[in-house]
Amino acid sequence: MTHSSPAPLRAAVLGLGMMGRHHARILQALPGVTFAGAVDPAGDRHDAVRDPALVFPTLEALLEAGPLDMAVVALPTEEHLPAALALASADVNMLIEKPLAASTEDAELIIAAVRRRGLAAAVGHVERFNPSLLALREKLGEGLLGDVFLVATERVGPFPERIRDVGVVKDLATHDLDIVSWVAGAPIATVAAQTAHRTGRPHEDLVLVNGRLTTDVPFNTIVDWLTPTKTRRTRVLGDRGMLVAETVTADLTFYENGRITSDWGSSQALRGVTEGDATRYALARSEPIRSELEAFRDLVAGDPDAPVVTLAQGLAAVQAAEAVLESARSGQSVQVAP
Ligand SMILES: NC(=O)c1ccc[n+]([C@@H]2O[C@H](COP(=O)([O-])OP(=O)(O)OC[C@H]3O[C@@H](n4cnc5c(N)ncnc54)[C@H](O)[C@@H]3O)[C@@H](O)[C@H]2O)c1
Repeated sequence: MTHSSPAPLRAAVLGLGMMGRHHARILQALPGVTFAGAVDPAGDRHDAVRDPALVFPTLEALLEAGPLDMAVVALPTEEHLPAALALASADVNMLIEKPLAASTEDAELIIAAVRRRGLAAAVGHVERFNPSLLALREKLGEGLLGDVFLVATERVGPFPERIRDVGVVKDLATHDLDIVSWVAGAPIATVAAQTAHRTGRPHEDLVLVNGRLTTDVPFNTIVDWLTPTKTRRTRVLGDRGMLVAETVTADLTFYENGRITSDWGSSQALRGVTEGDATRYALARSEPIRSELEAFRDLVAGDPDAPVVTLAQGLAAVQAAEAVLESARSGQSVQVAP
């Protein structure tokens, strides 16, 4: 008897902007998947789709061309809810770009619709697939740092003109709020935040957050659209030293606590009173969006252990973002989880 492999999954992308073009590029070559098409009323401005006949102006037109097994929602954040509801009514499994939605209300409506139709769904928190953060989490799991004292993240850079519907808290800090909780393995308990509006847009373009996880580990995060240079860094400080993940270059470095003291005064002034070894790990690097799409494909194909970011985790990031905005407005510390 011959074993036949399952039929490829018909996959689509909604939105061919900065993010959707990458999803389209990868889905056109992903094993186990047939690329069914993309939807963008503005067309394929980045030449992401090889066959122009597969670019549709509306979801209805794409669905008329054939049924879909899975779709990636890579639309402006305010559009996630209507797109997710339309996909749910057509029984299409969905990977929704982060943040899951523009508000917790929208996110809860998406979750209810997905549950009602019994669909598979995930959120595009792509940083969780970055080789540097995957390795950092693995090292923490092995106990490399011992007790964790602090998680600190920095995500700064110039303003991307195209983002108009949400501010830097929902657009970018949702990455950090997800990362701190994921790497340290505990929900966010409280946040205290400051925001600034410096570019004249209706939404904030800078945020500083101090917070605490339910395990009492403190965290801080700085995120902005004002800095001329781009940094995406996660730093975990612990009993035995510090791990630093740079997600732009996908590098992970371990700085051991100082063991060596030096009697050369100038050296002490430069390096501190003691010095420890620094190790930059060699990592098996896979493109994060590809790993994310592979995980989602596997979930849709029926693997319940596929390592996707769940809708509940996407909702938690939106809830934490709303607590950050409330704290910045009120000047009070805000509780996120009990
Ligand atoms: N995971 C990440 O690191 C990451 C990075 C960037 C953006 N994103 C997320 O991806 C989403 C899209 O962001 P972007 O930067 O690609 O935006 P973008 O503005 O570059 O692209 C959005 C595209 O959607 C199209 N569009 C708008 N309404 C539509 C509709 N109803 N149907 C079909 N197409 C429609 C627009 O024409 C545009 O081409 C956002 O939710 C954003 O937060 C995630």
